[in-house]
Amino acid sequence: CGIVGYIGPKDTKEILLKGLEKLEYRGYDSSGIAVMNEEGVHVFKEKGRIADLRKTVDFDVFANSGIGHTRWATHGVPSRTNSHPHQSASGRFTLVHNGVIENYEILKREYLQDVNFVSETDTEVIVQLIELFATEGLSTEEAFRKTLKLLKGSYALGLLDDQNQETIFVAKNKSPLLVGLGDVFNVVASDAMAMLQVTDTYVELMDKEIVIVTQDQVTIKNLEGEVISRDSYVAELDTSDIEKGTYPHYMLKEIDEQPLVMRKIIQKYQNDQGELTIDQEILDAVNEADRIYIIAAGTSYHASLVGKQFIEKMANIPVEVHISSEFGYNMPLLSEKPLFIFISQSGETADSRAVLVQVKEMGHKAITITNVQGSTLSREADYTLLLHAGPEIAVASTKAYTAQIAVLSILSYVAAKSRGIELEFDLIHELGIIANGMEVLCDEKEEFESIAREYLTVTRNAFFIGRSIDYYVSLEGALKLKEISYIQAEGFAGGELKHGTIALIEEGTPIIAVTTQESVNLGIRGNVKEVVARGAHPCIISMSGLESEGDTFIIPEVHELLTPLISVIPLQLIAYYAALHRDCDVDKPRNLAKSVTVE
Ligand code: G6P
Repeated sequence: CGIVGYIGPKDTKEILLKGLEKLEYRGYDSSGIAVMNEEGVHVFKEKGRIADLRKTVDFDVFANSGIGHTRWATHGVPSRTNSHPHQSASGRFTLVHNGVIENYEILKREYLQDVNFVSETDTEVIVQLIELFATEGLSTEEAFRKTLKLLKGSYALGLLDDQNQETIFVAKNKSPLLVGLGDVFNVVASDAMAMLQVTDTYVELMDKEIVIVTQDQVTIKNLEGEVISRDSYVAELDTSDIEKGTYPHYMLKEIDEQPLVMRKIIQKYQNDQGELTIDQEILDAVNEADRIYIIAAGTSYHASLVGKQFIEKMANIPVEVHISSEFGYNMPLLSEKPLFIFISQSGETADSRAVLVQVKEMGHKAITITNVQGSTLSREADYTLLLHAGPEIAVASTKAYTAQIAVLSILSYVAAKSRGIELEFDLIHELGIIANGMEVLCDEKEEFESIAREYLTVTRNAFFIGRSIDYYVSLEGALKLKEISYIQAEGFAGGELKHGTIALIEEGTPIIAVTTQESVNLGIRGNVKEVVARGAHPCIISMSGLESEGDTFIIPEVHELLTPLISVIPLQLIAYYAALHRDCDVDKPRNLAKSVTVE
């Protein structure tokens, strides 16, 4: 889900459509644009992809301002009617919205009893309220601010008023939104990538701010109408980073980029003496903590589980890992000196942000580990560690996962050294070996394609098993597969399988076992035998150097603590080819959003 807007001399439709295409990676199920000219506002919207929207657009309509939207359904099914933009009853106001308004039903009852609603969305309430207040005599800006003060929840908004052709009104609370600056034009976008085609200069917006955007001016105000000044910044993104090039899918490109990302991370976290380094302030925060709480969602949660092992084993600090959407309700008893680490590729995940707000209010310190500089979680935490993975466009996360693990290993390693703990390995050297090993695996794509073909073309389910650190990787392997191939896949701790899940094993059920640790190798092989005896079709991915028998694929040997960085690559590629063989939309799987900015 995302928003774009443009005001300037060029024809708006193509700029908005291109912007929406750049936002496609965030996930959506319908889209729309509204453009404004002397004849009024023209709205085009459609369920499905931007390509479907394009077919409905009347390219003869020329306009100099407009807003666009991709919607990921929350209130109301994905449909043309529920897709944005939404208009007020008279058609004067047109609005796009990302986020969720929690009190929309109350507002509807209190203020809008007489209005006929077209859609089932919370958004329509906002645009009808603006019209109501404007009819009562307020200016558009005043009506907008008055409406915003009534809203509870999250929003990024773009508003057109057909009686005010020279202006786009925008506002933000909790959902991400930027204003981009151009030469005699200005733009609005949920992220910098969307409008990189026209500008690389952006102004960040804070919560509860509105912006009045004309083609020559950008005026930020708070909800009281007081003007706020803010400097712009240049987004350090290269347009080539966000192109697929010769790759058929972003996911494949991003899988292949992992060796490069490892090397980039080593370089970014090295000082002039060639040693790994982390800001002293961050190290102090880590060293003052008696317990670390890692908060994350999805793939980032899986990386966090690996990170816990690193921090505990290297730096000797106890760690708890929590799913962000659960943490708020079931807050554990916190230790005396907790430190929070938020791990998030996008830096925008609303569930994680809600926890960050909560723990900041409690006065605790927080570090964000993210791929997106300037993202909400990064801005609001005390410290940030960047992943340096480059933009990740495919919805299924790959290079951000390995980057998160690599950065967590560096944090743990440097923290251990600062605590006087002797570690018997050189992390730079080990990460270098990993980059090489990743390259070897990326060169063996046909192997993974044939594994996917053999095991996953017709099956309806699949199980991934591992023990110890391999268990965490099996969780991620299963998530990758289900996200993009829609095969029901689960990751299990090898030893736990017999306590229930083994009942699901039938003749031919694929079992993908990951084994990289001497200490559990025989244990997991025992589990494989148990399921094979019940008809399962086993695929064993093991690390070179381990005692093996009947293995399907051997991965290069790396340091035993860091094996997830390498064992995940076959699982990513197997998931990719499984999705391909099943004709799935690899980069934009159904129902998923890349950046989930709603709780
Ligand atoms: C969404 C994405 C997942 C991602 C999760 C957390 O659900 O579809 O791929 O792992 O959000 O995202 P974050 O940006 O916080 O890492």
